[in-house]
Amino acid sequence: MIDLGISGFFSDIKNVFSRSNVLGIDIGTTSIKLVEVSKKGENMTLENYGILETQEYLKRGNAALQTSALKLSERDVLPVLKKIISETKPKTKIVAASIPIFNAFFVTIDMPELQPKEIAGAIKFQAKQYVPIPMDQVNLEWVRLDNFQNERGQIQQKYLLTVVPLATIESMRSIFKKAGLKLAALEVENKSIARSLTSSSNPITQIIDIGSESTSIFIVDGGVVKRVAQIDNGGASLTRSLARTLDISAFRSENLKRRKGLLGSGGEYEISRALIPFIDIILNECTRIRVEYENNTNKKVQDVLITGGGANLLGIEDYVKKVTGLQIKSGDALKLFEMDVNAEPMRKSLSRSLSVASGLALQFFV
Ligand SMILES: Nc1ncnc2c1ncn2[C@@H]1O[C@H](COP(=O)(O)OP(=O)(O)OP(=O)(O)O)[C@@H](O)[C@H]1O
Ligand SMILES: [Mg+2]
Repeated sequence: MIDLGISGFFSDIKNVFSRSNVLGIDIGTTSIKLVEVSKKGENMTLENYGILETQEYLKRGNAALQTSALKLSERDVLPVLKKIISETKPKTKIVAASIPIFNAFFVTIDMPELQPKEIAGAIKFQAKQYVPIPMDQVNLEWVRLDNFQNERGQIQQKYLLTVVPLATIESMRSIFKKAGLKLAALEVENKSIARSLTSSSNPITQIIDIGSESTSIFIVDGGVVKRVAQIDNGGASLTRSLARTLDISAFRSENLKRRKGLLGSGGEYEISRALIPFIDIILNECTRIRVEYENNTNKKVQDVLITGGGANLLGIEDYVKKVTGLQIKSGDALKLFEMDVNAEPMRKSLSRSLSVASGLALQFFV
């Protein structure tokens, strides 16, 4: 197996870059987000950020920056990446970038307790049965989850495998190189969000990342991602549903969604009626995953955090509280950073948009 190990990329990174600026770049389905972070002494500063959204996908269903294909579309991503770099003019070329959840495979497997030296081989052997790509063409990482006793009284150990096709890693490398940047680290975005929104001392937390074409839901315990799921409904589903209901263009619908959210009253009630079924799909999946986790581990999920652009939907917290009794929180993905006073009023919405990018940059410093 060719070792392009994602974590191997930057084994010495903290020493090498601990005093310079670094970039975190999140290439999403419909946007690219960038943060530039510096550390001086103990203080980390958000020096600069950029968010470049394309709304082309609202016109043509297939114009997202990425599809679920294994390779990133260089033709679509590279011009947008170059544009965000030319507009933000970062002082460094060193980048940590994320791989979207839908470019990775997540597999949970059970195995008997094995000797440490036997584990890697056994995991690869099992992974082969679930991953539709030859094992010499993927990067494989795993974490130990809980253990349990099966019907025959044997102790079984659960593992969560994260499998990334080498083709995806290669296309990321190529895109960043062509943009004139130095790709120093790559990781799947759930890890970045877990790093920016939680710490190892946090209670068990469910994180809901409402993106454009999809929503990712994961459970983080002690700073480690223990469950991952993804559903094909995100902010764009809300926009399309509203456009159909009101028979308006996707652009007007996007605008209306952002202005009114779930708070429309009187004649505007149609707006929430078009949006709510999709929020309910997301919430049902969240409940299913929480219940599964709690039943299998006998531990309680204590916090639910919401992030991603879709989390900016006005009234979403109150709606979730009303139907599930849960108090969802936003979390502050930028809490460790000082920032320009002029950006302070936007901290909450920036935190939702930059949770992946800031988690990426943080890995250099924490
Ligand atoms: N104020 C707002 N109210 C409601 N929705 C919003 C608001 N602002 C942004 N959104 C929605 O957020 C979504 C984009 O979220 P985000 O930027 O996290 O997506 P992405 O990272 O490009 O996609 P993904 O993570 O799925 O790859 C869009 O559907 C957009 O309509
Ligand atoms: Mg995203």
